[in-house]
Amino acid sequence: MKMWSGRFKDSLDAKADLFNSSLPFDKRLYKHDIMGSIAHCSMLGECGIIPQSDAELICKTLSDIFYDIKSAKLKVKGAEDIHMFIEEELTKRIGDVGKKLHTARSRNDQVALDLRLYLRDAVDSIAGLLKNLIETIIKISNQNLDTIVPAYTHMQKAQPTTLAHYLMAYAEMFMRDVERLAECKNRINIMPLGSCACTSTSYPIDRRNVAKRLDFDGITENSLDAVSDRDFAIEFLSDCAVLMMHLSRFNEEIIYWASDEFGYIELDDKFSTGSSIMPQKKNPDMCELIRGKTGRCYGNLMALLTSMKALPLAYNKDMQEDKEVVFDTEDTVKICLEIFTAMLPSFKYNKEKLRKGAERGYTAATECADYLVKKGAAFRDAHAVVGRLVRYCSDIDKQLDEISIDEYKIFSDLFEDDIMQVVKPENILQSRKAPGSPSEKAVKNEIKKAEKFLKTYFVQPE
Ligand code: ARG
Repeated sequence: MKMWSGRFKDSLDAKADLFNSSLPFDKRLYKHDIMGSIAHCSMLGECGIIPQSDAELICKTLSDIFYDIKSAKLKVKGAEDIHMFIEEELTKRIGDVGKKLHTARSRNDQVALDLRLYLRDAVDSIAGLLKNLIETIIKISNQNLDTIVPAYTHMQKAQPTTLAHYLMAYAEMFMRDVERLAECKNRINIMPLGSCACTSTSYPIDRRNVAKRLDFDGITENSLDAVSDRDFAIEFLSDCAVLMMHLSRFNEEIIYWASDEFGYIELDDKFSTGSSIMPQKKNPDMCELIRGKTGRCYGNLMALLTSMKALPLAYNKDMQEDKEVVFDTEDTVKICLEIFTAMLPSFKYNKEKLRKGAERGYTAATECADYLVKKGAAFRDAHAVVGRLVRYCSDIDKQLDEISIDEYKIFSDLFEDDIMQVVKPENILQSRKAPGSPSEKAVKNEIKKAEKFLKTYFVQPE
């Protein structure tokens, strides 16, 4: 018998019952549901809405139920959703007193509360995993401040840079992901309970009391909004989609850096797989899976956005669709971050090939043009001169450091012996003085700032 069945003559069709039930997936909220109920019930007792002794008994029993579910002594099944399950179990254990818990509350504000409590934790643990990843990137970068690699634009060789500069570019993205999640948490961490079904209640409840007990930053201001708002979940999915987009780019680069054509990195056996037919294969399956799973995180975001589209106020059952996508994205992001952070230090970089890669493809051409500018030419003219010089080299299949100074001089009198030094990647890198550039000094400074960022965002508990 359903708790709400008073006005019904007939019981729910068996298939409809299954269809309606969210218990198979929202049982994951049991801890947060119980936390919320304990805070709510304590407030009811304190405000004299239910007898203090009843409140104490309910809270104690809820805590027992929590431990029984946690230890699998109590199986979560046979109810419409996690809220009903726990309330039914409570009443089974303490009889009529248990029936007082749901005073001044609706499942509508209850589920909004649970999801906020749940997401608060999810955001913290994802941010913690991002921290581990950023620290790993910093560590590898510190070891590769002078490892020369090519930078690309349009997937064509562009200019030389360092591995540290390259990797730290991704650290910047992941730091912004941490910031985004922290901002999202500010909006998650607002307490909706007391909104009840949709227009609050006449009981003398103390919403701030509940918020304080649950460590919320504030309370929601409009009861209609509070029970129908899922922006915070959409924002979480959106932040995760952006995070996965960053991971997918990083993994894409590893995939082709590990190909025979590039040969820049060698994958570790621990994180690669073979082929059932081609004995020579060593495939970057982990990277491809992370890249692929980005699609499902985008899908989860689109799914919830679409479920919420055009929903009238206030609660509608459509909103039950919020949970599976949130859980799936959370699981996906966590496993991807864990695998990727474990895998990243396992790559062997082929420094010789990377350096060759950085030298070939006329990556010093911009520097040659800048050289002419420093000797008095206008940049546009210098660009044209070096363009012709590159065409000449390409025709005779030589690189910029393989031709003589006399050949340079065919294109401009401004070229002198020192040009041979200027085109060397080390010198190009050291000439980069501006903040954000790949010189050792600039990248060390970037790393220092990243370390400071981590310290500020992840304050150690005293
Ligand atoms: N299982 C429901 C959900 O996840 C809980 C809220 C139900 N509210 C209602 N009025 N039927 O959204």
